[in-house]
Amino acid sequence: MKDQVRIAEFNKDEKLKPFIRWAGGKQNLIKEIYETLDLNGVQRFFEPFLGGASFFLQGKFKYSYLSDLNSNLVNCYKQIKQNPKGVFDGLSRYRIPVAPDVYYYEREVYNEHNGDQTLDQAIRFIFLNRTSFNGIYRVNKSGAYNVPFGKPNPAFSSLEHLEKISLKLQQTTIFSGFYDEIEQLVQANDLIYLDPPYPKLSDTAYFSHYTLDKFDNREQEKVAMFAKRLQDKECKVVVSNADLPEIRELYSCWQISECSAFRYISCKKNRIRVKELIIKNF
Ligand SMILES: C[S@@+](CC[C@H](N)C(=O)[O-])C[C@H]1O[C@@H](n2cnc3c(N)ncnc32)[C@H](O)[C@@H]1O
Repeated sequence: MKDQVRIAEFNKDEKLKPFIRWAGGKQNLIKEIYETLDLNGVQRFFEPFLGGASFFLQGKFKYSYLSDLNSNLVNCYKQIKQNPKGVFDGLSRYRIPVAPDVYYYEREVYNEHNGDQTLDQAIRFIFLNRTSFNGIYRVNKSGAYNVPFGKPNPAFSSLEHLEKISLKLQQTTIFSGFYDEIEQLVQANDLIYLDPPYPKLSDTAYFSHYTLDKFDNREQEKVAMFAKRLQDKECKVVVSNADLPEIRELYSCWQISECSAFRYISCKKNRIRVKELIIKNF
């Protein structure tokens, strides 16, 4: 069966990176995660905690469903899918090095247009993400993005990079919503990658502050129950999470392997190596 075309696999020939910096991103773990998986028989892929889309970008799937609760983030994928050149041209108009007052002006305009599904809002999102402090996404109680300026020399994606991502996005459905909204869409043999915000690792940990809705332990339990329902539908499920006793307990009947990644766990400290888990049911 040497010539048989596999429908889903790890794309080892091309390392397609995310176009944003994203807290908790799996870019550096993705090869390790794929190595633990047998994707035979998989046709469709779901990534409902999309973030920087590391898993999707490094895979080859016949069709994918990509979603996230952050509608401003989701809009970037929609715009890149439709118009990668428009996104590139918009980002090229910023003068480098970026002055702090330009960043704060764009942040204000971004907040005025919160939720707009437009090309301009996608350009502002990527600009802010690339020039902000550590690329985190944090909002205040009223939902306004409030991350300070941090990087005067941002590295924006090349046109070629955005075009590659756009091409890959053609075989996808992209939407914003809660992760469990995919439940009505999934079928047996679909591959689902769940990468929820992690539980706090320290009192000052901030990389779980993506949206207004905090992701507490009760939410982790709900994700585990959701994963179980997907398993009951005979889906292939992979979950990433922090290596904490409560997470191991939630998935005690699943196959668990360890890996490690560098993460920021506080605003003040540098990145440190932390243990994480790859949890799966196949
Ligand atoms: C750990 S990040 C995913 C990182 C991604 N795997 C990557 O490699 O970049 C978690 C994501 O979940 C999203 N999120 C938080 N709560 C959510 C919810 N209830 N439903 C769907 N997405 C949610 C956040 O906006 C964030 O993008």
